[in-house]
Amino acid sequence: MKKMKMTDVDFAQLAKVLRKVDFFAPLTIGQLEMVLPYIMLYAYDTGERICRQGEKGDAFFIIRDGKVDVNVKKGFFSFSKRVATLGQGSFFGETALVTDEPRNATVACAEPSRVFVLTSADFGYVLKKNPQFAAEIKRVAERRKFLLKHKE
Ligand code: CMP
Repeated sequence: MKKMKMTDVDFAQLAKVLRKVDFFAPLTIGQLEMVLPYIMLYAYDTGERICRQGEKGDAFFIIRDGKVDVNVKKGFFSFSKRVATLGQGSFFGETALVTDEPRNATVACAEPSRVFVLTSADFGYVLKKNPQFAAEIKRVAERRKFLLKHKE
């Protein structure tokens, strides 16, 4: 994992990219400008884990480019199973933040990937400013939890 340094030009480009990412699209320009400085960009290699099942959630992730696998381990002695693969523009890591439960899956890079990272506090800010969107995120989190629970 490598933290990428962001220049002013990067921030200007980032603003453009973020408007195309569903998660940020409902924000006004002013709101976007407020979260922009807090968004970090990390680069991960294939196989690197971005978050681990069972850990406390401290951040929310949006894929800028690349692909990640969502892997779940049900019992101590069982192997982990891939339940989803997510690509550009998809987000993950929301469930632990909205439910205050441990991470329900391990997310690892299927190929070299760059990922925008928002701390849980900044994620909370975005949701607070967008109640409708907060409701949608909660629905996604519930759906993902349900899928995990009912997959054998
Ligand atoms: P969280 O529990 O915070 O951390 C692991 C993440 O994996 C979880 O949030 C979801 O964002 C993601 N995840 C879990 N199950 C699925 C699924 N079935 N499809 C897509 N993403 C999932």
